[in-house]
Amino acid sequence: MAEVLVTGGAGYIGSSVTELLLAHGHAPLVLDNLSQGHCAAIAPGAGFLQADLQDPDAFAHVFAGRKIAAVIHLAAVSVVGDSVRQPLRYYRQNVGGLLNLLDAMRDASVGAIVFSSTASVYGIPEKIPVTERCAVRPINPYGSTKLLGEQILVDAAAADGLRWVALRYFNVAGATELCGEAHHPETHLIPRVLEVVLGQRPHLEIYGADYATPDGTCIRDYIHILDLAEAHVLALDAVLAASPALPAAPIFNLGNNRGYSVREIVACVEKVTGRPVPCVNHPRRNGDPPQLVASHDKIADALGWRPRRGLDEIVVSAWAWRQRHPRGYEG
Ligand SMILES: NC(=O)c1ccc[n+]([C@@H]2O[C@H](COP(=O)([O-])OP(=O)(O)OC[C@H]3O[C@@H](n4cnc5c(N)ncnc54)[C@H](O)[C@@H]3O)[C@@H](O)[C@H]2O)c1
Repeated sequence: MAEVLVTGGAGYIGSSVTELLLAHGHAPLVLDNLSQGHCAAIAPGAGFLQADLQDPDAFAHVFAGRKIAAVIHLAAVSVVGDSVRQPLRYYRQNVGGLLNLLDAMRDASVGAIVFSSTASVYGIPEKIPVTERCAVRPINPYGSTKLLGEQILVDAAAADGLRWVALRYFNVAGATELCGEAHHPETHLIPRVLEVVLGQRPHLEIYGADYATPDGTCIRDYIHILDLAEAHVLALDAVLAASPALPAAPIFNLGNNRGYSVREIVACVEKVTGRPVPCVNHPRRNGDPPQLVASHDKIADALGWRPRRGLDEIVVSAWAWRQRHPRGYEG
């Protein structure tokens, strides 16, 4: 059976996508340099190659002698603040890595890719909910690298007939039985709140409690990792089949069409864990939009994808995984 190459498949999202690909009868082959990922996160049954997308000679052989039908490209560096401090590294990794990958795919006649993009391409959105027709104006280098990635796919499709889908994730959260969230450093809200619950942080810093939102804190759209992974399987199947359901601009938001404030997340974690979460207010951070809520109607219409899990399931699953792995994959 032809394999599906999953770059970044030892990371948070890639490991769950790999798990679901196996469940759907695909044969995933994980490629990861383990800079952020964990061997223990790679689903049993998946192939694994440790390789770096920055080293084209080292990973060109990945395609040689193998039957790879498509690539799901998740490998990237993705900490917004780091991207502001080290923009060249971000362009080299995220844009350079994609170019190396596309070169190798073209040489091996692999013509289908699903690309991890982000809501950061919208910057401060002009309206809520955010549709794919909203202006794209990233306000940090991370968002710019992902927007450039989308443009590169548009141009490669026009020149080489590449078939592609780009998925713009909003805030991915939650866990499967096997795989959970363990970034270093952890910048995402739900795992940070759980670290407070576990006594690994003294309190939660809330950056901005004076926004024009009902409780003054920022509102974000959280999507369960399993819903997100299901969207990847649908997108992969559509791109493999060159499905006529794919629109000319195959770029899709992945969110829940529903936002929660930082305070609402804290309240949900307190309810699920039965433990208090002390919070300390800090000034706003530059470039944090007050609200970021997706419209996922485009992918619902094109591919029939709809999220099936809400905030409670996200927090329950993240808490269950964290209790089994209090120190992430290290323990
Ligand atoms: N987590 C989110 O909420 C979120 C939101 C929007 C977009 N995204 C995007 O989703 C993708 C996955 O995010 P994640 O949260 O799973 O991050 P992650 O850091 O857990 O996973 C990324 C993986 O890529 C690997 N990697 C990085 N550079 C590499 C390289 N040069 N060669 C080979 N492997 C490399 C890392 O070791 C890691 O395993 C990224 O592209 C990210 O930008 C994530």
